[in-house]
This record gives sequence, structure tokens and C-alpha cells, in this order.
Amino acid sequence: MKRYIPLALILGISLSASAQDKKIEKKIDSVLKLMTLDEKIGQLNQYTGDRDATGPITNNPNKLKDIRDGKLGSMLNVRGAKETREVQEVAMQSRMKIPLIFGLDVIHGYRVTFPIPLAEAASWDMAEIENGARVAARETAASGVHWTFAPMVDIARDPRWGRVMEGAGEDTYLGSKIAFARVKGFQGKGLGNLDAVMACAKHFAAYGAAIAGRDYNAVDMSEHTLWETYLPPFKAAVDAGAATFMNSFNTLNGIPATGNSYLQRDILKGQWKYQGFVVSDWGSIGEMIAHGYAKDKEQAAELAIKAGSDMDMESRSYLPSLAKLVADKKVPVALIDDAVRRILRKKFELGLFDDPYRFSNVARQEKEINSAENRKASLTMAEKSIVLLKNEKEVLPLSKNFKKIAVIGPLGKSEKDMQGFWSIAWDKDNLVSLYQGLKNKVGNQTELLYAKGCELSDSSKTGFAEAVEVAKQADVVVMAVGEAFDMSGEAKSRANIHIPGVQEDLIKAVQATGKPVVVLVMAGRPLIFNWTADNVPAIMYTWWLGSEAGNAMANVLYGDYNPSGKLPMTFPRDEGQIPLYYNYLSTGRPAKNDKDTRYRSAYLDMPNSPKFAFGYGLSYTTFDYSGLTLSKTQIKPDEKITVSFTLKNTGKYAGEEVVQLYLQDKFASVVRPVKELKDFQKVMLKAGESKTITFNIDKEKLSFYNQQLKWAAEAGDFKLMIGTASNNIKLEKDFTLLN
Ligand code: NOJ
Repeated sequence: MKRYIPLALILGISLSASAQDKKIEKKIDSVLKLMTLDEKIGQLNQYTGDRDATGPITNNPNKLKDIRDGKLGSMLNVRGAKETREVQEVAMQSRMKIPLIFGLDVIHGYRVTFPIPLAEAASWDMAEIENGARVAARETAASGVHWTFAPMVDIARDPRWGRVMEGAGEDTYLGSKIAFARVKGFQGKGLGNLDAVMACAKHFAAYGAAIAGRDYNAVDMSEHTLWETYLPPFKAAVDAGAATFMNSFNTLNGIPATGNSYLQRDILKGQWKYQGFVVSDWGSIGEMIAHGYAKDKEQAAELAIKAGSDMDMESRSYLPSLAKLVADKKVPVALIDDAVRRILRKKFELGLFDDPYRFSNVARQEKEINSAENRKASLTMAEKSIVLLKNEKEVLPLSKNFKKIAVIGPLGKSEKDMQGFWSIAWDKDNLVSLYQGLKNKVGNQTELLYAKGCELSDSSKTGFAEAVEVAKQADVVVMAVGEAFDMSGEAKSRANIHIPGVQEDLIKAVQATGKPVVVLVMAGRPLIFNWTADNVPAIMYTWWLGSEAGNAMANVLYGDYNPSGKLPMTFPRDEGQIPLYYNYLSTGRPAKNDKDTRYRSAYLDMPNSPKFAFGYGLSYTTFDYSGLTLSKTQIKPDEKITVSFTLKNTGKYAGEEVVQLYLQDKFASVVRPVKELKDFQKVMLKAGESKTITFNIDKEKLSFYNQQLKWAAEAGDFKLMIGTASNNIKLEKDFTLLN
């Protein structure tokens, strides 16, 4: 008998998890039995509160009455321990006393703001990204909110689309890793813990491929591209245990995502066996009328519930229509029960049935919010998000001997813009501008001069003269240019993504003084600034870095943190090249180089290559790659190759390098990209230090979706490329997968 005890104990761990699940399912059964149809439909309804407007608000004076009448399952945009408690108290006056779930767009931090997600992606640092989401979750949960509408895991290949700021960029592999890390970060040790919030993978699906980069626009793509490029980050979110999904505003090949059974029922809830619930995007059920897909709200409700949309965010289609649709036998009650069950399951897992107020604790909120520890995490993330694009003549790091530094540019003293687009609960009194960050760093040793020079998007150059005078007095000029916080984000698409206004003219005027110039570009998307890129010696892309922006920039400028970021998105030379991404498919007439245009897949008036490539970013130190060896150059499908090489820090500073592994399947039954990121590592090396870096290649890394949309590897030749950027491959070798 004794032999069985340890086994029973081991099993006990997983048994208790499933026993817990079974217990919850029983509880859901008993609650469902007591509910009227109207109360069930109420659970599928979500209103916004009045505090933050994150969509077009419909005036609704009856919100509290509706909650009391059991007509609501969730609210968004209600936050704060006190406020959530007050609203929850109203829900407790309803007949069934089912607690509400409070949701909020916590996209890059709650009170302490983190760098925008695209910036965080530039860190290629999964542990730090997970930690950023963890901190955000702790602050959010302590404010009575149970659910964040993040991460946005949409792949984005078009920088005109303003929402690129909210995702992880253009690459499916990197995007999937980040999706996983963010979900883990938000949900921590699991729902029910007081420092965890429900994650929401959005926008299902393909929202990032809006035609012409115009937000909310239609999406038209092959099944192959959908599966290979756009779906994997969502699958990664499922694998990480994402509690919820949000569908999207767009149509996909003619069918609105919100009414799309193929996406929500066949793929998500079918093939992927997803047990969480799907919330619509704001008003997207009702918007199927504008799409010309439903003739009225009743039909929209019918299409959406059948397609697997469980909760109606703010379109007010389910509440007035579902009971009639059931009575008319157009919607089986089992569909409603399934949606309610999914929502109640999360309420049980969150522990809200035990104590509906457990997240609404003022003392915990005060302790958690804006803590020194949280700010420190934001600072670290911000440092790691900065990408050094250029550093000629070793202008950087700044010398401690400089006595006078000029900060010039419209963003030099800006605080609010550092917060980025999705900064809902930000702290107005605790933001660090570039100017302030430098002041904190240099103290009284160095004099800081300042001139704004121009506005962000005006045409006036009247401030140029003063800026030039200030520059002339300084030993070095640090320029802060880019976009205002509301120039990238939801509904912030731009056809012209050059640095706005006369900012680049200001850079030219300042550069003409002959002083060393460092340009910091602060933006929510890849911008175009060719003159600056070609003429200014030092450029850092700082995105929007959040609460500690100025301190992070100062640390990097002075080399107290050696920049390690790499671009998660391609930077084009011109809007005419868009969409431009590194992993494009091979063509029959590839151009050999940027001048090779004759009967080639090329432009007559512009190179094919980007200004800055995916994966690109410099350090203050240099790295050498050598000695690539493969454990085998031929493998059978069940074997793997161990790849190893030596990475050496050949410069003067300690620093991190993101080593990138790309593969090309040379011949396949479906044309493959010229290269695909398949692995990476972020490696810290002291000056002069060497390390052996190893990667493994197995069948999984060699697989792709074949013509039958089956994930499979095909025998044949592959090219392995190891590099410091997608366009800077240092080592390569071929190998073969045998039958
Ligand atoms: C619309 C956005 O598309 C979505 O991402 C967001 O979560 C909701 N509004 C709620 O604010």
C-alpha cells in the first residue's frame, strides 16, 4: 500500500485542480437553475461607467437601475476601491446578487505608467515584460478592477495604423512570446489571487491588418496568412491561460469578426477548446448594421451570439433582443446558458461569489499604487525599451565633462506625452520629462539650457532663432522630437508618418550650428526622418516611455544603462513602401540589391530596403559572432540540431546583445518567407567577455502551414542565419531535414 502514497500525493495536486473545477461547475449549475432568462441575458450585458471615455458614449441615466434589476454582468471604466465598491453594492441589491466584473483598458500600466507595448517589445526581454504586466496587475487589482483589456496581440505590418503602439510589432514569433509573457504577468499565480487580473487577448482576429492602415477598416487575407501570421499570438495567449478574448471591429474576408463563427466557434472554442469568455469590442455587435451584415440590432444579436460572442460591450443589442430571439426559437437557450456559464465561471474563479468586495480595499490600494518598487520596475522597463539607432563619432554616452547641455524641441519638457495614448489612471504630479530627468542626473555640475523651438505639428518657425542661440551656447544638444500622445493609438491612423510639422527643419537648423547633436525620437509608431537619419550623428528611439521616461532617457544618455533595444517593427524610408516587413515571401524576380530594378520586384524611385530593419539596434559596446557549429547537418524528423557559436563583447562597456536566429526553408510546397525569426536570446556580457550561445532546432521550428493548413515540416534544405538584426546576419549554414 505504501508504494501508492506518493503517487496519490502527486495526483492530488492535479486532482485538486480539477476537483476545484468540478466544484465550480456544480456551483454554476446551481446558480443557473435559479436564474430567469432575463437575468441570464443580463449577465451578457456590459456598460461603460462615466469616468473614462474609451468609445462613443451613449447617454444612459438608467445604469444603476439596470444593475439593480439584474440586467448587467460587467462594467468597464469604473475604477478605484471606493467607486467599485459603491457600484458593487448596487449589484448586491439585485435579486440574484451576482457580482459585477469591472474591466478597464490597462494597456501599459495603471497609475505607474510603463512604456507603450511596442516600446516594451523593443526590449526583447520576456522576464521584464512579464514583470511590467505583473506590476500593472497589482495596481489594477488593488483599485477594485478585475479585468484588463490587454494584451493586444495583433500583428501589425503597417505603421500608418495608429494602434501599432499597443502591440508587439510585426513578427509572429516575437509577438507570440510577448503575448504569453503578458498574459502570465497579468494573471500571476492565477485568478482568485488578490494581485491578479483577468487578461483579454484582443482583437480576435486580424484587426492589425486593416486595409491601408485605417483603423476599423476591412481585412482581406488568405487563410494561410491568417493561420501563419495572425493567429499564433492568440494561440499563445490561450496556452498562457488568458481568461478572456475580445473580438474585433473589422470584417475578415467579408464577415465581421463579431459575427464570425469560424473564428470564435470553430477555431477558438472548437479547435483550441477555449473555456474563457469572449467580449465584443465596444459596440461591435451593433456595428454589424453599419457593415451591412445585420439589418437591425435584433439580427445583430442573433448573429453575434450564434457566432460565439458572449458579452455585449456597449452596443445594447443583447439586452433588448435575446429574450425575443429565444421566444421566436431563433436562438436556443443552450447558447445563452453556455455564454452565461463562461462568465459565471470567471466570477467564481475570481472569488467574487465569496466576497464581491474583495478587490475593493482602500488600504491595499493606497499601499500598492505608485509605490517606489513599481516606479523602479517602470524605469527598468523604460531603459530596456530604448533603441539606439545611430551613434557616430561616439557622441554617446554623454561625457560627464560637458558643462552645458541644451535640451531643444517640443517634447523636451513634455510630461503628458511621455504617458502615451492609453494612460487612464496616470499620476499628473509624478511624471518625469526629459528635461527633468537630465536635471535629476546632472545636479548642479552641469547647466541645462532649454528652448522649445517649435510646436509639434505647427508650421511656424518663429522659435528657431532662439533654439539656435541656445544650441550655440551648449557643449552638446539633446533634441526631443516626435509625436504627441494622441497621434498614435486607437483611431489615430495617419497617412503621413514623417516626423510632424517643422520638427525636422528645427533639427537641420540646430545641426547647422556644428554642435554635437543627439536626437531622441518619442513616438507611438515607426516614423520617417530620413534627413535626420542621414545627417545627425546620434539618434535614439525612445517611443513613449511612461512615468519614468526622463530618468530612463538620462540614464541611457549617460551610459548608466547601455542601450539594448532592437526594433520590433520595420522603419520604412517612405509611406509608399508600406506594408514593409522583413519576412516577406520570396518572389520569382527578386532584386539582388537596392539598385537592381530591371524586370525586378522593385521600385524605380526608391530602394526596397527599409531605413531601419526589424531586429536592428545598437549598443555602446560591440559584439563579435564567431565559430558557428551545428551538432548535425542532417536530421531525421525526431532529431534535433544543437547550434552553437561564440559571442564576444569586443567593446569598452558591459552590455546586452539580442542574438537572433532566423531560418529559411529553401524549397517547400508553399512559398516560404526569405527568413523567419525562430528564436532569440538576450545575453549580458562584460567588456571583453565571451560566451558560448546555444540554440536547438527541432521539427517544430521547421514546420509551417501547408496547403491543407496542417502544421508540418517538409524534408529538404534549410538555411540557418544568426544575426544582430534581420538585415545583419553574422553567421550562416545550411542543413537538411531528412524524411
Ligand atoms: C475599443 C478598443 O478597440 C478596445 O481595444 C478597448 O478595449 C475597448 N474600446 C474598451 O475601451
